[in-house]
Amino acid sequence: MGGKIIGQEDPRTLAQLRHLVNGYRVTQALHVAATLGIADLLAAGPRSSDDLAAATDTHPDALYRLLRALASAEVFREEEDRRFALTDLGNGLRSDAPSSVAGWAAFVGDPYHWQAWGSLLYSVRTGENAFRHVHGTDPWTLRAGDLERSAAFDRSMTPLSRLVATAVLDVYNVGRCRTVVDVAGGNGAFLAALLTRYPAARGVLFDQPHVVSGASPLLESSGVADRCEVVEGNFFKAAPTGGDAYVLKSILHDWEDPDFIRILRTCRQSMEDGAALLVVERDLGQANEDAEAKFSDLNMLVGPGGWERAPEAYAALFEAAEFRFVGYTPSPAGTGVYEGAAA
Ligand SMILES: C[S@@+](CC[C@H](N)C(=O)[O-])C[C@H]1O[C@@H](n2cnc3c(N)ncnc32)[C@H](O)[C@@H]1O
Repeated sequence: MGGKIIGQEDPRTLAQLRHLVNGYRVTQALHVAATLGIADLLAAGPRSSDDLAAATDTHPDALYRLLRALASAEVFREEEDRRFALTDLGNGLRSDAPSSVAGWAAFVGDPYHWQAWGSLLYSVRTGENAFRHVHGTDPWTLRAGDLERSAAFDRSMTPLSRLVATAVLDVYNVGRCRTVVDVAGGNGAFLAALLTRYPAARGVLFDQPHVVSGASPLLESSGVADRCEVVEGNFFKAAPTGGDAYVLKSILHDWEDPDFIRILRTCRQSMEDGAALLVVERDLGQANEDAEAKFSDLNMLVGPGGWERAPEAYAALFEAAEFRFVGYTPSPAGTGVYEGAAA
């Protein structure tokens, strides 16, 4: 019985544990800073917290306390007279940063997502999805009825998808494909990156009507709108025909196995024999490593209700949807391409 618990007497270990326990405070502080657009307001140089409070219509002392807390986490730097500047970390919260985390910070702290995480214990006790438990519906249905939140979610995905597109397209050659259908492609960030890299390719961006209706600015600013058809629909009913490759990026991890198979079957029905299925998803990584993947998996349990799967899981699921599993191409981003062929 008992005995020394290794590391417990070490104050640094305890401080590290408290830091982990209190992670929720950092999440909310970043959420508030991102929602207020503080990093954008600091883009041109340091400003006082009073000045920032006036610009954001917030309480001066409360905003100061937020900013100095985030300065202690190295997101901002506090200078004399309550002035604050951006740090390297803080620059990542600018909305114009190429891989901006601002949208993600705004999304993860939004009460509807945050409340679902507040019921993680429910998910762990029951194995059931916390989001449905809390809201009585899934995130896609909730956001279809709340277009502001839907657009905010799309904004949160765009820079992440751009980042993944660069890493994945560096290791996986799509050059043989003339027409690429991006199934549930959101605002088109991945497809735009692909079409930019392959100027002879054409694209079809497919997603729910209220999602693709916001895609034009990104496709236009990427200079690919003239090579990209936009199609609205429901991937449980039908997918566009005519592609020689079908991309599903960050889709199947949102769903349990039966829906995973249903979505792929819908795609299969629209695909010619020999067309390629390119599923872009995370690799769960090794035990004791890859915290981002492991916590993303927990996010699937809490939020949409799916899984981050290990590469071994894909072959059987592809086969169940009448695809031959061709192989897995990993990328340094921890996200890779699970390739299937329409058998
Ligand atoms: C996690 S997001 C990924 C978006 C995009 N592929 C990316 O990686 O940036 C999941 C996407 O699935 C779409 N989606 C959810 N249910 C759908 C349905 N029934 N039919 C079509 N798209 C759907 C959502 O609108 C959303 O854009």
